[in-house]
Amino acid sequence: MTALENPKIKATLERLHNAARGDWLVFLRAVPAAAVGALTGRGVVDSVKPYLKSAYIPIDAAQGRALYQFARMSGARTIVEFGCSFGISAIYLAAAVRDNGGGRVITTELEPEKIKAARANFAAAGVDGLIDLREGDAMETLRDVATPVDLLFLDGWKELCLPVLKLMEAKLKPGAAVFCDDMKGFRKTLKPYADYVRDPAGSYVSMALPLGDELEFSVRA
Ligand SMILES: C[S@@+](CC[C@H](N)C(=O)[O-])C[C@H]1O[C@@H](n2cnc3c(N)ncnc32)[C@H](O)[C@@H]1O
Repeated sequence: MTALENPKIKATLERLHNAARGDWLVFLRAVPAAAVGALTGRGVVDSVKPYLKSAYIPIDAAQGRALYQFARMSGARTIVEFGCSFGISAIYLAAAVRDNGGGRVITTELEPEKIKAARANFAAAGVDGLIDLREGDAMETLRDVATPVDLLFLDGWKELCLPVLKLMEAKLKPGAAVFCDDMKGFRKTLKPYADYVRDPAGSYVSMALPLGDELEFSVRA
């Protein structure tokens, strides 16, 4: 039996995926702000960010299982995540680390309420001992992560995915897997990221996987 079938992990993930279905209400409340953002040139994403403080905006269950599988396949023991939210993806990654024999998922989050809830969710799933949740801006909280990192998952605000990748780059072991979510929905914002990881003369071999809102899967040379 894998950790994904562990009753506490399974029940916590089911509860959280169900709760995340309520995000539509948050998005509905944000519609007027999105319209104002689009009309004033401020930008839709920046205008709705204050509304997203209570939104899960998580990976879906298929993405979670895929991340688990990739982490297992690579024997990942040190995993870094940018963008924890309520902790759904971190729980899938912690399940893989547990089944790989132990290690650490280092994740990070800006919002105090989400941090509090994520800690409670990790305890409910019984994976709190495997997760190091760092409070604050990823560009600061991930600075002192030790080498080597086996797997990196980028799922915070999209304009920071490339800066966070560059921050972590020297710490990625050769052959490390890097994932970035929402390549389709944030195609424009993530274009510099896609250009960087897909550059044939660069340091990665990369492709978009048709999972969720497209998951970029890159392997460090
Ligand atoms: C898409 S959600 C993450 C969902 C999560 N990975 C999951 O699947 O459950 C993005 C999260 O990143 C957080 N975030 C955005 N920018 C951040 C930053 N600079 N440092 C830390 N967290 C950040 C947001 O507050 C938000 O909760």
